[in-house]
Amino acid sequence: MKKIGIGLIGFGTIGAGVARLLLERKKLLSERAGFIPELISVCDCDLKRPRPVSLPAGILTRETKNVLENPRVQIVLELIGGIEPAGSFLLKALQNGKSVVTANKALLAEKGDCLFSAAEQSGCHLGFEASVGGSIPIVKTLKESFIANNITSLYGILNGTTNFILTRMVEDRLSLANALKIAQDAGFAERDPSLDLSGNDSSHKLSVLATLITGKFFPAAAIPTEGISGITAKDLDYAAELGYGVKLLSILKFGQNGLSLATYPALIPNRHILSSVRDVYNAIFLTGDLVGESLLFGKGAGMDPTASSVISDIISIGNNILCGAKPLPFSITPGKKLQLQTDFKSRYYFRFSALDQPGVLARIAEILGKYNISIASCIQKEEKPQKAVPVVVLTHTAKESAVKAAISAIDRLAAIKSKTILLRLAFDE
Ligand code: HSE
Repeated sequence: MKKIGIGLIGFGTIGAGVARLLLERKKLLSERAGFIPELISVCDCDLKRPRPVSLPAGILTRETKNVLENPRVQIVLELIGGIEPAGSFLLKALQNGKSVVTANKALLAEKGDCLFSAAEQSGCHLGFEASVGGSIPIVKTLKESFIANNITSLYGILNGTTNFILTRMVEDRLSLANALKIAQDAGFAERDPSLDLSGNDSSHKLSVLATLITGKFFPAAAIPTEGISGITAKDLDYAAELGYGVKLLSILKFGQNGLSLATYPALIPNRHILSSVRDVYNAIFLTGDLVGESLLFGKGAGMDPTASSVISDIISIGNNILCGAKPLPFSITPGKKLQLQTDFKSRYYFRFSALDQPGVLARIAEILGKYNISIASCIQKEEKPQKAVPVVVLTHTAKESAVKAAISAIDRLAAIKSKTILLRLAFDE
């Protein structure tokens, strides 16, 4: 049986998971793939750390050239993460005529344009299934299974850590800090969780999906992004009272005025299937003009789920190398020119902290009316009248720019005692 040589850079959690599968499932993978994926060289700066796999003698190295310049290596796995030196290793591998598999969404979301064009010029394959949604085959779904479709919208829960935190806040009535600590103690939230909490990890993944769908590179920095740090248990309670759950959503939507991309915590009606995606799970709800609505669901992180996607890229690329197939384009609509829409429409949730005095609600309503924002429902909880009380408002569909201007005017009123909390609604327009 023919062999395909694999070199791995980055022998961390995911790298060790991939190496273990390549070694322990070698026979099974070879039978299924029709070739032997042979692990030739594994590179890491730490040769001592215990890992859940023992490598054959002599293949672990500190020298990247043992992977990048090794003539027996045909596919390089870049699993170190971060921007540099990962980006340089990836480019070097392509220049040396090697195909690459990466899980590095931060790198793709910052430098995707030059990586994709370097891969195209080299004629080598670049696989990145593991960069979005861990085990979920979303890249294959978009590039192959749904190739005949125009994708009109995509709503993704793309970060397991934040989904776990929001679920525990609601179900165990924990604060965000306590839910985060449980996630960290269980080992699936990073010690520095800022990429997750800020929504940036989700926007990295949305950037990759947007490139696939639109054929145009939208770096994560161009995607409006809000995280979950400002979400309180109080807001989750009010949302539940109104019939909604709160999820950190990454959204791609083609509307009348063009394409919008954004990541933010959103209220989702309880009847929508995405509201049942709990804990560390990820899900991607997409609409194609032929298939209609589809949902992909699965584990978005972790050693085995992510390694499973890396192996899937290795097998597809190995087969393509052996039959001499050219790489598929990186997007399903190559070359299409698109502008990002900067002002989108949505329904909104506001929580005002207002003094319980005559005329305050009227002033708020007056300002909302002035900006053409229509109130759909309103709840005020009776609390101590001398203190600020929460006034929760749901609006009908309004323009983001008008909402921002109205909230800024309302927050300047003397009767408003803290910054208004603003969340958007999804699937309820
Ligand atoms: N930290 C991510 C998450 C996994 O919690 O989903 C890696 O992107």
